[in-house]
Amino acid sequence: MAALIAALGYLIGSIPFGIILTRLAGAGDLRAIGSGNIGATNVLRTGRKGLAATTLLLDGAKGALAVWAGTQLGAEGGGPIAGVLALIGHCYPFWLGFRGGKGVATMLGVSLALSWLVGLVFALVWLVALALSRISSVGGISAALCTPVAAFALGLVGLMPAFGAMAALVLWRHRSNIARLMRGVEPRVGASPKI
Ligand code: G3P
Repeated sequence: MAALIAALGYLIGSIPFGIILTRLAGAGDLRAIGSGNIGATNVLRTGRKGLAATTLLLDGAKGALAVWAGTQLGAEGGGPIAGVLALIGHCYPFWLGFRGGKGVATMLGVSLALSWLVGLVFALVWLVALALSRISSVGGISAALCTPVAAFALGLVGLMPAFGAMAALVLWRHRSNIARLMRGVEPRVGASPKI
């Protein structure tokens, strides 16, 4: 059953909404724009705010849907397994030759579905860090890293491995952003990085 839950979570997470929506809107191939990432931050660089907001919403919703589906299948740990695999699916979708996104929106959806309080901490840290820095990656990385700590503080020790694994994956997927942050050239929201 755990393998079925993992496969289902991966499949749900691997749907590349950013790519699908920008194509449908006639805005071209997202991988050839800005950072080349398939997430909402890069969709925003097409100049289409509605499309970026929809990508954010759907990438988050698929994370929550995966957790819900994993929980419904009734196996022990089904929700966390499906959630982590949904994040892996988003970051490494086989549809795109395993070159996917950085996972922030999907992790928000997974977090809210696993524990709305941890999800709330994620959302608040994301918003505050983004508001202070005006840099999307700073918001996403800060929020992801706070989740294992929030789970611990809330007594959700059983969920710490899942949040820890997801935070590590989000951090790993932001390697290029971290390198740009260290060089002081990571762009503010809306602007494009120089690759
Ligand atoms: O969620 C992705 C964001 O943190 C960074 O995106 O396109 O600037 O690499 P991007």
